Amino acid sequence: MIDLHSHILPALCDGSQDLETSLAMARIAVADGTTHLACTPHINPPIYHNHKAGIAAAMEQLQAELDAHQIPLRLVIGADVNMNPDVMRGLKQGTIPTLNGSRYFLLEPSHHVPVPDFLGQIENFLNAGYIPVVTHPERLSWFNSHYEEFVEAAKMGAWMQITAGAIAGHFGKTAKQGAERLLLDGYVHIIASDAHGIKQRPPLLSEGMEAAAKLLNNPDEAQRMVTERPQAILDNMPPDSVTPALAFQHSVGNAPDLSRTEQLTPTKSWFRSLFR
Ligand SMILES: [Fe+2]
Repeated sequence: MIDLHSHILPALCDGSQDLETSLAMARIAVADGTTHLACTPHINPPIYHNHKAGIAAAMEQLQAELDAHQIPLRLVIGADVNMNPDVMRGLKQGTIPTLNGSRYFLLEPSHHVPVPDFLGQIENFLNAGYIPVVTHPERLSWFNSHYEEFVEAAKMGAWMQITAGAIAGHFGKTAKQGAERLLLDGYVHIIASDAHGIKQRPPLLSEGMEAAAKLLNNPDEAQRMVTERPQAILDNMPPDSVTPALAFQHSVGNAPDLSRTEQLTPTKSWFRSLFR
């Protein structure tokens, strides 16, 4: 499995605070069946001022430690990017990393306040050739009252990431019901752990994936959320070459508008070749 959302890098945000915890998190992920993990610390000025160069350096250090400890986990770069008007500039200037250098990046809306012009900002990213992967909508306090905006964002071409622990019930009833609603309506693209540590929010994917498989009565689709689609992100595949989310699998007329991304040329699929 591939986990594209974790706060495993030590002391960069509110996730792991030391190397020992990061190594323990890596061991938990590997034991759960994860082979690749994106390091996605918060970028949320003025609280967390992370940038691509610093994240890359910390990731290389942790990868060296993993290799030295013979923990078979491959790290890739990313960030958990708070949604604000400066994000586009950071992406274009290269201070905000996308997931493994692809066109996809994690975009975290505010937890407690609806984002002004949410769909307008999503549209701007899509028009610029990026694919925002909206993180854990089910855990946002304004999710239910603005549900149609998230559906519309998915129809426009944004991807949705729900939290494995939320489907499994570790974030309470409201988050679980929100995740189930989005799953059953077919707008979920990927499942990730959003791991912050070893006890409260560990890097586990399988329990969420299994809960999704049961809910949907569709193990293949649940598998896609932790394998095929995250792999496609790492390989920078265009979204129309990937199995679409359930809502778009049977209805051509309802497919997301992918015309904006057609001008992009996918980069060479070097990542997959590294791990053959
Ligand atoms: Fe996160």
